[in-house]
Amino acid sequence: MVTQRTFSILKPDATRRNLTGKINAKFEENGLRIVAQKRIRMTKEQAEQFYAVHKQRPFYQDLVKFMISGPVVVQVLEGDDAVAANRKIMGATNPANAEPGTIRKEFAESMEANSVHGSDSLENAKTEIAFFFKDDEIVG
Ligand code: CMP
Repeated sequence: MVTQRTFSILKPDATRRNLTGKINAKFEENGLRIVAQKRIRMTKEQAEQFYAVHKQRPFYQDLVKFMISGPVVVQVLEGDDAVAANRKIMGATNPANAEPGTIRKEFAESMEANSVHGSDSLENAKTEIAFFFKDDEIVG
């Protein structure tokens, strides 16, 4: 097991329904530590750049619109194999396919309003963390 950091977003559907505490409890109960966290309103430019990898996908414009529709909480999570651990805690992208007990199974409204984002690789985690946090904002 190696200690890693991964990047997480509590999406607008989660902040709207006041679920940030319940979702954070899932991370903590499953061994991840929240070592940085801030509530922000993403700009359109930030959302477009953050999701640039999906630019050619049919859902891109709607996704950007959704991500700026309300506040989000951006986070850095730390723990053993944090990237894979967080993906397990979140569950499948589509809540219909998510395992029982996962965040998306319990809280997600739809494929788009799926409550959380988590990095899909260690390399992307590093890029995504640096997109939102300075080194001295992360306290392990
Ligand atoms: P996320 O992990 O934030 O990464 C991209 C997001 O696009 C994804 O979660 C979903 O919320 C959203 N999305 C909407 N439609 C799709 C789709 N058909 N396939 C994958 N992601 C989708």
